[in-house]
Amino acid sequence: MLLKNKVAVVTGGNSGIGKAIVLELARRGAKIVVDYVSHPDAAAELEKRVASLGDQAIGVEADVSQLADLERLIATTVKAFGQLDIMINNAGIETRTSVLETTEQQYDKVLQVNLKSAFFGTQLAAKQMIKQGGGGRIINITSVHEDWPMPGNTAYCLSKGGMRMLTRTAGVELARHNILVVGVGPGAVATPINLSTMQNPDEMAKLDAAIPLGRMAQPEEIASVVAFLAGDGASYMTATTVFADGGLMQSSPGL
Ligand code: BGC
Repeated sequence: MLLKNKVAVVTGGNSGIGKAIVLELARRGAKIVVDYVSHPDAAAELEKRVASLGDQAIGVEADVSQLADLERLIATTVKAFGQLDIMINNAGIETRTSVLETTEQQYDKVLQVNLKSAFFGTQLAAKQMIKQGGGGRIINITSVHEDWPMPGNTAYCLSKGGMRMLTRTAGVELARHNILVVGVGPGAVATPINLSTMQNPDEMAKLDAAIPLGRMAQPEEIASVVAFLAGDGASYMTATTVFADGGLMQSSPGL
């Protein structure tokens, strides 16, 4: 198996794209730490599923928007599995609020969960990888909206734009340690973050029509890109973003 003997942390690993990443990395032989914040039951269920794949996983409840929790997450990983090779900064939320509507509380929450967690997740993972001496992979789950405006989802776009520059800057800084930092930018994916769109047939029709492939992605179609980037085949990729958006960004001026 391609990721045998690798240890991965997936933030927000109990739902949506994060859950699919956990299962795909496990399928490829990695040991996984599943970070979760809101649904401990879901994490326990996931542990069982991963265990049934013949690999090891543990769930850790940690609010990755808080530095102390992130520190505990990394320390628990090293204690449980002895090392950290692959850090997936995946946790993310959105408020679907415009420039004019967004409150201070919404702004802080989105920026902390999406961007602050990715920044300190990158920092702490890199420190551990440097200590180990064998390089590593840091993968930031961003969005087409790291680059592409989404009117009515302002704080989210800011956070993803920040992750874009985090990926590029950290990728350049950490290259001499052979720590590769890459972003994965999905378009619309069938996950809980898009539930309100998925429940609205008119919105769905508009979205599908804007996507050249004509449909949303399944989370597994993003997870397979992440797994590739975590493996040997991606050894020359850093400081950039790989988009998996069904062509959305190239075809539509905005939604
Ligand atoms: C956002 C979704 C949006 C999709 C395509 C994602 O990053 O979370 O709300 O539908 O991008 O625009």
